[in-house]
Amino acid sequence: MESYENIHLNKREGQHLYIQLYKAIKEMVLGDVLKEGDRLPPVRKMSKMMEVNNVTVVKAYEILEQEGLVYKKIGSGTYVSHREKEIKDNLGEEVDSNKKITLMEQGQIKIEENMINFASATPSAELFPVEDFKKVLNEVLDRDKGYAFGYQEGQGYYPLRQILGEYVAQYGINTEIDNIQIISGAQQGIDLVSKALLSYGDYVIIESPSYTGAMAAFQSRGAKIIDIPLQEDGLNLDILEKKIQAYNPKLLYIMPNFQNPTGISYTQEKKEKLLELCSKYGVYIMEDDYLSELNYYSEDIGNLKQMDDEEIVVYVKSFSKIFMPGLRLGFMVIPGNLHGRLLRAKHTSDISTSGLLQRALELYLKRGTWQEHLRYMEKKYQERFDKMNDCIQRYMPTGVEVIKPKGGVNFWFKLPNNYSSQTLYEKVVKDNVVFAPGNLFYLDNQHGEYFRLSIAAVNLIEIETGMKILCRHIDSYINNQEPINRGSFIKPIL
Ligand SMILES: Cc1ncc(COP(=O)(O)O)c(C=O)c1O
Repeated sequence: MESYENIHLNKREGQHLYIQLYKAIKEMVLGDVLKEGDRLPPVRKMSKMMEVNNVTVVKAYEILEQEGLVYKKIGSGTYVSHREKEIKDNLGEEVDSNKKITLMEQGQIKIEENMINFASATPSAELFPVEDFKKVLNEVLDRDKGYAFGYQEGQGYYPLRQILGEYVAQYGINTEIDNIQIISGAQQGIDLVSKALLSYGDYVIIESPSYTGAMAAFQSRGAKIIDIPLQEDGLNLDILEKKIQAYNPKLLYIMPNFQNPTGISYTQEKKEKLLELCSKYGVYIMEDDYLSELNYYSEDIGNLKQMDDEEIVVYVKSFSKIFMPGLRLGFMVIPGNLHGRLLRAKHTSDISTSGLLQRALELYLKRGTWQEHLRYMEKKYQERFDKMNDCIQRYMPTGVEVIKPKGGVNFWFKLPNNYSSQTLYEKVVKDNVVFAPGNLFYLDNQHGEYFRLSIAAVNLIEIETGMKILCRHIDSYINNQEPINRGSFIKPIL
């Protein structure tokens, strides 16, 4: 019991108490202070010791359980498990699933209603085509009645796959309907590919920085992750080839257009060479196309799948950024030889994606309402994109580097002289502006000098106001000026 007395939770610290408690216990597990099979104090006892309420302890225990660091015995209590610790010890430097899942926890930024939200790359609710979708939902219910609520086939509702086949043909992908797999969001697609292709200890190569949700999915399979720094036109292919030779990876995960978080796009030449390289070594590529539709100024947004003669590319498409994330709908265009494996993975995951929503989406796409909505989203986002570029030019202090994308919703910045974006975050959030600190997107949780601003959830007024606030803080932080006067800013009405 002695050891728990060393835990000191700080109510004034920005971090939630349950996160602080969870981290302290985790450290004790990983540091062998708590041994396999040790029983954690019961919730009530722990809450008394820590002088917090029961919910705080319950939440901390829940995260530890999700991470496999403890397990519950019904009616008996919560016990320490060293299984995850052993995975970490065995896999060495490249993979640290505990660290990453912790990040996922911490990465959930609390957004108050009146905040200017540059953190979230998801469209705000006022952009959703609710009325049009209501119409197609009602029509499906009238037309299909109870059939809309039966189990749908695992691969997806056939008419939807047909129409998606036509949709991707516009982007140069000619595929058989059989190679289209409906998924409950791109995140599920990434997870299914991980399940189907990766075994414990297999290597995966990713871009650095990368999408946190993908890293977490690979780690959940016990895969070892190698990250390669991105250049302004994509991955360095010489390094990639050396890593492939050295590690014989099963999979390369990339976002060739408007990468998350950097906004970087690969040149056509690089896309072709990358495909050649992976074909040569027999490495599958997962191509995550989460928003190439939002192209404003690029002529180079071809995808890898359209050139995939060797059938090594799994193309994963999300509708979350351009449509409605809560629908949890997406699709994959898969190599024919992965058909069975992916279908089995889908079955063990959720049997099938909601039949009602698939039918409604099919009708929505068929009506052409979709094209109208896409044009609307493009227009809205382009206005925001232009506004952001304008604000960067006008307000961003000298010394801050920015990668300017040609489309998408993300802008990637680097503070000078290793100034920390987490520290900046703590200052800016007090003025009701939030953004995503860069360390969240790195495997090693380092590189805090970077940060991402997204325009998905902010309107034009918020961009102007938010950028003024943010840039003043950056200026005051990196040039050590007097603290700024908070009272003088206009807070937008949301
Ligand atoms: C690059 C990338 N891939 C996949 C996803 C997950 O998308 P979905 O909502 O379709 O699961 C996201 C969500 O933010 C993302 O940024």
